[in-house]
Amino acid sequence: MQPPRCCLLLVLLYLFLLSGTWATLQGTFTFRLLQTSTFQNTSFVDTEGIGLLEDIELGSLDKHTWDIHFCQPWVRPALPRSQWDIIDNIFKIYLYTFIRIMNEGAIQKDEGNPSPSGNLSPLSAPPDPFVLQFMAGCKLYPNRTSQIFAYVGYNGQDFLSFNTDNATWTLSQDTDLARYVRDVLQNDTTLVEAVKDLLNDTCVNALEMFLSYGRAALERQELPVATVFARTPSPHQLLLVCHVTAFYPRPISVAWLRDGHEVPPGPQLNTSPVLPNADLTYQLSSVLAVAPQDGHSYACRVRHRSLGTRSLLVPWGNSPVLLITGLVAGLLGAVALAALLLLCLWRRRKHQGTEESQSRNSILSKEA
Ligand SMILES: *[C@@H]1O[C@H](CO)[C@@H](O)[C@H](O)[C@H]1NC(C)=O
Ligand SMILES: *[C@@H]1O[C@H](CO)[C@@H](O)[C@H](O)[C@H]1NC(C)=O
Ligand SMILES: *[C@@H]1O[C@H](CO)[C@@H](O)[C@H](O)[C@H]1NC(C)=O
Ligand SMILES: *[C@@H]1O[C@H](CO)[C@@H](O)[C@H](O)[C@H]1NC(C)=O
Ligand SMILES: *[C@@H]1O[C@H](CO)[C@@H](O)[C@H](O)[C@H]1NC(C)=O
Repeated sequence: MQPPRCCLLLVLLYLFLLSGTWATLQGTFTFRLLQTSTFQNTSFVDTEGIGLLEDIELGSLDKHTWDIHFCQPWVRPALPRSQWDIIDNIFKIYLYTFIRIMNEGAIQKDEGNPSPSGNLSPLSAPPDPFVLQFMAGCKLYPNRTSQIFAYVGYNGQDFLSFNTDNATWTLSQDTDLARYVRDVLQNDTTLVEAVKDLLNDTCVNALEMFLSYGRAALERQELPVATVFARTPSPHQLLLVCHVTAFYPRPISVAWLRDGHEVPPGPQLNTSPVLPNADLTYQLSSVLAVAPQDGHSYACRVRHRSLGTRSLLVPWGNSPVLLITGLVAGLLGAVALAALLLLCLWRRRKHQGTEESQSRNSILSKEA
């Protein structure tokens, strides 16, 4: 009885340590594999693939060898070498099979009326070039339940999606090619099971390991840098621009304040989408259209996780000048005050001196 109990304890301890490593990371995390294959012709297919944890690129596929390149130092140590070898093999077999199936399907589709036997003629006309995109992965919720997903896109449009409940593929567009690919994926029950297991077991396990190894990368915070400037597209219009950049993570709140009150959304307010910078930080701009010299004060307010409960407040135009003049006035005032104080002290001393001499005089006069 002793060894099993000991093992059980060890397992419990291991689970506890495992859960402890990422349980404090708040939120829902998604691991995604993205594949884009451009079919130029049946003998030339260009395939790119990347793996993402949230917005962090973990690895990419070599275009020519389909080997995995790691983009973060902590990704390879997150899984044992044997598991990477298996994943590497699965990618290669999958890509080879996927490309073959798609090429055959594209040839059939292009023939317009495929023969009922489904036999393919290698001499058939080459299909038009097309682009296939594949996205698959898994999501881990704060309650520790997970969800898997898989989608296929064809020339930029939804093509097929995977139903996780009954492990079937659904057509997103009703075309011969979509039905053909669905049937190929569906008819092979071992393939369906493999996809399900790969996503439900391998993906979720890997995601948990990436969450514990990549914690620092996920918790990285970069402060936003905000600049406010104006553009005058016409003499009657002033565009106030608040440009915010260099922040991470992506969620941010940028608002314009008019006399200290938030300007509500409307036609005069135009905020760009959040755009990526090359160093995995983000940027955006918020533009407020105002009438020149309308007598109001404006400021851009930024709230971001890296700022905690504080906000970044960047006033526009007159306000910084006011701030500087205020500073100069303050300095001048301080100098004047110091001078006045010195004068007072000097006069008081002088006064005291005369009083003293007066009293001394008076004493002297009494004594005299
Ligand atoms: C396929 O496309 C590639 C690149 O566009 C080209 O170099 C090659 O000759 C083409 N092959 C055939 C059989 O058309
Ligand atoms: C876990 O959270 C997800 C997302 O909030 C929710 O859809 C799911 O039903 C939850 N599962 C359980 C067992 O609470
Ligand atoms: C995934 O695995 C969990 C438990 O590991 C199981 O409850 C769930 O039904 C599985 N989902 C699929 C789609 O196989
Ligand atoms: C599988 O589930 C989807 C919705 O989740 C449904 O539309 C489809 O008919 C189901 N397929 C089978 C074979 O039950
Ligand atoms: C898939 O199976 C169905 C029915 O069993 C069959 O009619 C169809 O030809 C098969 N398709 C492929 C691509 O194997």
